[in-house]
Amino acid sequence: MSETRVALVTGAGQGIGRGIVLELARQGHDIVGLDVVFDPQNHTKGLFEVKDRVEELGRKFVPIQADVAAVDTHEALLQRILDEVGHLDVLVNNAGVAPKVRLDILETTPESYDRVMAINTRGAFFLTQKVARHMVARAEQNPEIRQYIVFITSISAYVSSPSRAEYCASKAALSMIARTYADRLAAHRINVYEIRPGIIQTDMTAVVKEKYDKLIAEGLVPQRRWGLPEDVGKAVAGLVSGQFDYSTGAILEVSGGMNIPRL
Ligand SMILES: NC(=O)c1ccc[n+]([C@@H]2O[C@H](COP(=O)([O-])OP(=O)(O)OC[C@H]3O[C@@H](n4cnc5c(N)ncnc54)[C@H](O)[C@@H]3O)[C@@H](O)[C@H]2O)c1
Repeated sequence: MSETRVALVTGAGQGIGRGIVLELARQGHDIVGLDVVFDPQNHTKGLFEVKDRVEELGRKFVPIQADVAAVDTHEALLQRILDEVGHLDVLVNNAGVAPKVRLDILETTPESYDRVMAINTRGAFFLTQKVARHMVARAEQNPEIRQYIVFITSISAYVSSPSRAEYCASKAALSMIARTYADRLAAHRINVYEIRPGIIQTDMTAVVKEKYDKLIAEGLVPQRRWGLPEDVGKAVAGLVSGQFDYSTGAILEVSGGMNIPRL
């Protein structure tokens, strides 16, 4: 069994997705990188910059433009991916958005709620459904195969932020989706994990950088530094390495110790 392992990573063009792609490529995976932003001319940022880096590592990178929220397109999308790479061993549901504007829960709009839920939660639920069907069929034909699905949720799955309640709700729901898929797929030897990043330095957190710089310096994060995309990437690579195969459904926090209750 020497087939190259292939990982599909959503939101692969920058930030945490980029960090995950690079670590999985270093581990020997070929990558299908999916993102809603797609600019083949731009090799300094986005999917085509990531493609260049992956190719430098000697792996294949297939850039795909898709919106994870467009659930009606998922079936055709998966078929296109399989036509291109043959099979998928790993799915990482990373694509996600913050609310466009942080509004107090007493002011949150239905539009923002629906947008965040559609991308972060509903999109990942149904994309996973399609990929899982493919993985189940593959597992039936090949009892040796190890397949993995990883959900990138957030500490916001359990930490309250009243200025972005719809985001917290989307991640709490995604956490239960991860658990349910872990339960459903366990007998098929498809392991499902949840990773909860804390405060990670990306464009998503750039708008609140000064606030978090100060809070981190004051000790909010026990490890006293920002998380980096590669911190999350290494955690994903660890989980799909085969070293945690009796731990499906596990939740791994990548937050510098923010999970430790403190006085
Ligand atoms: N940055 C943090 O501190 C942090 C903390 C916890 C969890 N997360 C989660 O990690 C994931 C990645 O966050 P990030 O900080 O790298 O954000 P980011 O904004 O830097 O990158 C997100 C990527 O996802 C893509 N994307 C957005 N909507 C999409 C859609 N509908 N379909 C396909 N691709 C889409 C974007 O184009 C972008 O390339 C998100 O799910 C986020 O909620 C981030």
